[in-house]
Amino acid sequence: MSTAALFTPTKLGAIALRNRVVMAPLTRSRADTEGVPSRHAAQYYSERAEGAGLVICEATQVSFAAQGYCRTPGAHTGEQMAAWSRIVDAAHDAGGKIVLQIWHVGRITHALNRAAGTEAVAPSAVQAAGMMYTDQQGLQPHDVPRALTVSEIAGIAQDFSDTAQRAIDVGFDGVEVHSANGYLLNQFLSTNANLRTDDYGGSIENRMRMPLQVVKAVSDRVGADRTGVRISPGHTFNDIVEADMPALYARYIKALDGLGLAYLHVMRPFANATDADPVTMARSLFRGPVIACGGYSSETGAALIASGGAEAIAFGRMFISNPDLALRLRTGAGLTEPNQATFYTPGPAGYIDYPALEGV
Ligand SMILES: Cc1cc2nc3c(=O)[nH]c(=O)nc-3n(C[C@H](O)[C@H](O)[C@H](O)COP(=O)(O)O)c2cc1C
Repeated sequence: MSTAALFTPTKLGAIALRNRVVMAPLTRSRADTEGVPSRHAAQYYSERAEGAGLVICEATQVSFAAQGYCRTPGAHTGEQMAAWSRIVDAAHDAGGKIVLQIWHVGRITHALNRAAGTEAVAPSAVQAAGMMYTDQQGLQPHDVPRALTVSEIAGIAQDFSDTAQRAIDVGFDGVEVHSANGYLLNQFLSTNANLRTDDYGGSIENRMRMPLQVVKAVSDRVGADRTGVRISPGHTFNDIVEADMPALYARYIKALDGLGLAYLHVMRPFANATDADPVTMARSLFRGPVIACGGYSSETGAALIASGGAEAIAFGRMFISNPDLALRLRTGAGLTEPNQATFYTPGPAGYIDYPALEGV
């Protein structure tokens, strides 16, 4: 089947893409203990930006308190922003477009992975099931979080908007608010991590109040046409339950639609066990551009675009191991499989040593 539909230009709000192959945000845990991106990151991202229509950089914390995993980058100190500036310049020099995914982990965290003096916070004081890797002590239970106060919620919305502004200031083409995968915004949306009885819990209207507050703060600050949002309807990753998933996302996607965003990025569950296909839902409820992600090949992705089901396709794992993925998808060249053992390990191995096609 032709994959030509992947290789036509498009626009996501103010961001013009030369093709519809998007690099999905991928946490690689290569930053230093201060959250400064690795010196190898400019090479890693620019090699991928050279062929992709858009690179979405890895989830990046909006404050020291927003960190949960070891060695993830931040975008809230001068040193971090200087490193991001070099990465953005390298991606632009390669002819690409680049946005930053901005992130608060909420209850998916361990004190050993955060700066001293910071606390785990979440909608409610409910510990997430599962374990968190730490460099010092291996796998540990997640911290028991403290429930956020209403004024702290406003502070977090401010952190997101300040971070978005810093990202635009160093030249990012846009930002993507992380409202997926069981992190803070998704915790507010959920029925198991959010047990609040105030205006931020209970009804769907209340559970989407905090995520919408964050998205609005960001889009008011840097422009809706430079703001994307990622969602993962029905995904159970990080101990998330959305008991009323179809009704919840029908309301949430409609509310996001009203903001005139650059794009909605929809991650399909790994095991598609839900009662409503999230990409189809998004297409029918969101009038702006949709990026679909989760297990697509060049053929299935091109078919979705050709049928009008999405404007662009994000590829995750294959971008880890194929720096020139867009070229390979266009030419039908073989793909290198990624090595999971080096997904999150520090240093250049498994990061900048996957080869490009030779002789092209
Ligand atoms: C190593 C790794 C790191 C990831 N990090 C992030 C992340 O930082 N933010 C995010 O929204 N999703 C993250 N994801 C999910 C990917 O963006 C993507 O949705 C997923 O890999 C499914 O797409 P694929 O089937 O093309 O790999 C990560 C996935 C992997 C494998």
